[in-house]
Amino acid sequence: MRSRTTSSLLLAAGGLLLGSVPLAVAEWPQGVPLDDFITAERDIALQGVLANIGPNGTKVPGAGAGFVIASPSRTSPPYFYTWTRDAALTLKTLVDDFIFGNTALRPYIDDYIHSQAILQTVTNPSGALLPNGGGLGEPKFNPDGSRYNGNWGRPQRDGPPLRAVAMIAYSNWLIENGELERVNKTIWPVIANDLSYVGQYWYVPSPFPPKGHNDANSGASRNSTGFDLWEEVSGSSFFTTHAQYRSLVEGAELAQALGQPCIACAQAPQVLCFLDSAYWNGEYFTGNINGNFNRDGVDANVMLASIAGFDINASCDSPSLQPCHSRMLSNFKVFVDTFRNPSLYPINSQFPSTSGIALGRYPEDIYYTGNPWYLITTGAAEFLYDAVARWSKQGFITVDDTSLAFFTDLYPDAEAKTYKKCSKTGPFRQILDAVTAYADSFVSVVQQYTPSDGSLAEQFLKTAPGSPTSASDLTWSYAAFVGMTHRREGHFPPSWAQSVTPAPETCSPGSTAGIYAPATAAGAPNVTIGCTSTVLFVVNASTYYGENIYLSGNSSDLGKWYLDSAMPMQSSNYTDARPMWFAQIPLTAGETVTYKYAREQDCGQPWIWETVNRTLEVPACVEGSTEVLLETDDAFVGERGSSGAC
Ligand code: NOJ
Ligand code: NOJ
Repeated sequence: MRSRTTSSLLLAAGGLLLGSVPLAVAEWPQGVPLDDFITAERDIALQGVLANIGPNGTKVPGAGAGFVIASPSRTSPPYFYTWTRDAALTLKTLVDDFIFGNTALRPYIDDYIHSQAILQTVTNPSGALLPNGGGLGEPKFNPDGSRYNGNWGRPQRDGPPLRAVAMIAYSNWLIENGELERVNKTIWPVIANDLSYVGQYWYVPSPFPPKGHNDANSGASRNSTGFDLWEEVSGSSFFTTHAQYRSLVEGAELAQALGQPCIACAQAPQVLCFLDSAYWNGEYFTGNINGNFNRDGVDANVMLASIAGFDINASCDSPSLQPCHSRMLSNFKVFVDTFRNPSLYPINSQFPSTSGIALGRYPEDIYYTGNPWYLITTGAAEFLYDAVARWSKQGFITVDDTSLAFFTDLYPDAEAKTYKKCSKTGPFRQILDAVTAYADSFVSVVQQYTPSDGSLAEQFLKTAPGSPTSASDLTWSYAAFVGMTHRREGHFPPSWAQSVTPAPETCSPGSTAGIYAPATAAGAPNVTIGCTSTVLFVVNASTYYGENIYLSGNSSDLGKWYLDSAMPMQSSNYTDARPMWFAQIPLTAGETVTYKYAREQDCGQPWIWETVNRTLEVPACVEGSTEVLLETDDAFVGERGSSGAC
């Protein structure tokens, strides 16, 4: 079936692929059997991923080698950047595909490692690699790997552990294939920085709730640990904690195989203790805690964490919280049922209550009006395929009070007991078949809302006809589709959780001081602790309400003339008499900087740039000082803006 080409399948299925089909024009031909859809879409999805990776990706001209661009969409929404999370999850899928036999992917993986070694050294608004690893928490960079200076939800602490996990999978394969030396010299130093970051920053420096108690909605004020994977709320996220745990478990094993130290890895049992005790509320895992969020905490991030950590060799009661874990099954039911509400997602009212439906990030979502996401709907299928695979392998299914409701939906006679595989038609088989059919029904939903050219955007509308919306050709949507097909075909990623032990009874969390160094053997520049001097940029610029002033310049700290990376200035001292905008920025000592100011007008009107270029020499630094060493006294040279009155 794999040999049948996509276009011939589509032509056979209805002749819809004549010429290029614009996004959202036609749905995937509905008559096509699910298996055929999956076979065709799998190839489209893999090509979709590769088209978004530099330097040769056909949809991302200008992207640097190994940089995975989130989407070719440059505006509405602006996704022409590389996110550490999206890239790492995508690479993990490519590494798996490579291990399953797709050897053509190897150059992409090698480029990725090289790109990330460099990226780790790029000083950015979250910090720098040296001395304390702060810069590793930066969520996104420009497509050439330079820093992004705009306002953003930062730091995001899932990037480093996800990146470590992708690289560890590849490293383990290399070791098995006789390349231990290469891993030791080249890849381990990149991984070690990320593990250091996890060990240093995973911990919330405030008391944990007692074991079994969830205080997500208690409103207790706590220190935040970082922004969640959806880049919206600062606190602790299940997804992030789960990725941190996994990276330390696998990191410890790899370190041992290489004879390397991993001080951070000793935190693994404590991260597990937190994962195990802080998020579960008796019915589902609260997606985000340790912050005040006006949400119920039902969030796709939990299911996505579980599938990312799937291990066919881990038992259903493994502390690694596999899809077949009773709590995960309960969580899954609560999550899916939330989206059955027809006033939330009207398109779901067409589906019977036993069928898969369209799923989104969390019920309170308003981003692009809050719609279903392709990657989450395929994620639900993957979750169920994972559970089925594990039950098949172990030959029994244990239903308990926690998971009973999940099972009765699909097998009404289910009881809290263990069903053993004893006949070809008995309850064990019937449950497996029902869950498999349920999994397939989520893929059918995706099929129904996939345009005929197979392109996968980020979202599809929650109202009929469910047209694609938000970012087009989202790399993560494509990667999620490919990953789902692996599980459906019975291809499982390498084990990691086989021997994990339960969390300690009492949590005593801590943080380990990280050791950071540029991974020069992998291509990182040999950065040293920089000497910076703080410059206070002050400019007089009369502005109207709704207009903003930015500072742009040639140095990387000023965004290298990228408007997207220009530094936003502040107007908190602005008066009519002194229309002052300012920005306080540490710059590399001794550097000559060229810069100018720009007006960002309201109502989508064009920017207004100054008509002069300014230069400034950054003074010598004073070690350890963050005092302002130079202050400018500029006045905007160029047109004034006028409000578009929109
Ligand atoms: C962009 C983020 O990527 C997205 O997740 C978020 O919902 C919007 N900003 C709104 O904050
Ligand atoms: C918004 C999503 O919420 C976030 O998870 C993702 O990293 C970015 N878009 C880029 O795809």
